[in-house]
Amino acid sequence: MKQRNFKFIFTVAGLIATIFTMITCITPLPDKPSPIPEKEIKEYKASALSELPPGQGKEQVIANCVHCHSSKLIAQNQATREGWLGMIRWMQKTQGLWPLGSNEETILDYLGNNFSPQNKGRRAPLTDIKWYKLDD
Ligand code: HEC
Repeated sequence: MKQRNFKFIFTVAGLIATIFTMITCITPLPDKPSPIPEKEIKEYKASALSELPPGQGKEQVIANCVHCHSSKLIAQNQATREGWLGMIRWMQKTQGLWPLGSNEETILDYLGNNFSPQNKGRRAPLTDIKWYKLDD
């Protein structure tokens, strides 16, 4: 009698364990992690492009210039408008940059104004220094 009870309990326990395992295996895993809140994406995008100063042309630069490399690569360069045109032509010839069409002028204005040779990160050297003698 006692042995039969044990057998019964083990059988039921075994069944429950099997069903539990099956349910765990069958239940599909969520195929995507929970979506990132819209607000965080916006903040991330804003900070990722923060080295591009606001102004007319920024939108066109974002639309055409940050697919292949970061905007930091743009912001760390200084050039005249002609210099920027040269870089654009080089990318078009060798790197697969598409024709910019009517946006080219706007983009060149933006780059030439915001990342011109005068806009170096460092200040110019001082020129009007008044030296004085130290007393011993
Ligand atoms: C189709 C891809 C692509 C697009 C779009 C693109 N570039 Fe580039 N760009 C490259 C590649 C590739 C390099 C070389 C990267 C390297 O040297 O690591 C490069 C390099 C640069 C450099 C560095 C040049 C140097 O002499 O060091 C600048 C500045 C630059 N790109 C600006 C821009 C601007 C401005 C635009 C938009 C008009 C743009 N890129 C769009 C592919 C692209």
